[in-house]
Amino acid sequence: MAMAKTLLIVNGPNLNMLGRREPSIYGSETYDDLQMFCRSEAQKRGYLVEIFQSNSEGEIITRLNRAMTGNYVGVIINPAAYTHYSYAIYDALLMLSVPKIEVHLTNIYNRESFRINSVTAPACDRQISGRGFNGYAEAMDLITMFLEERERGR
Ligand code: DQA
Repeated sequence: MAMAKTLLIVNGPNLNMLGRREPSIYGSETYDDLQMFCRSEAQKRGYLVEIFQSNSEGEIITRLNRAMTGNYVGVIINPAAYTHYSYAIYDALLMLSVPKIEVHLTNIYNRESFRINSVTAPACDRQISGRGFNGYAEAMDLITMFLEERERGR
């Protein structure tokens, strides 16, 4: 039997507060809305999805370590503020050989200067920034593209 194609989506600190968090920057849609969006976009593309959110760096790393089991065909991560300083999340991402896409709801190049630098992006295949919820759907399409490329290269 073919293994279900499952994506892991990891969301970092304060993303649980979407809708209430700086609505002028992040909008009025909630974290539940984001999860529903991701599930529905995944379904359209034939993926199952596991969505994990944590405000703690260690929990995010443990979740990424657990993804080493090979149960996922790709990882989408929004490390939130950890993007800008977590070498530990960078290291955890490096261990994963599946396609990895970093997503930011907002345009990190257009805000405070400390947001411009992502220490986690170099461990990912691509970064999508400033596309709102759609960034997650675009990340799924990139994962599909990378998986097809890998399949052809075999
Ligand atoms: C964010 C951008 C980060 O700079 C910020 O710390 C976040 C959210 C985004 O999705 O736009 O928490 O990752």
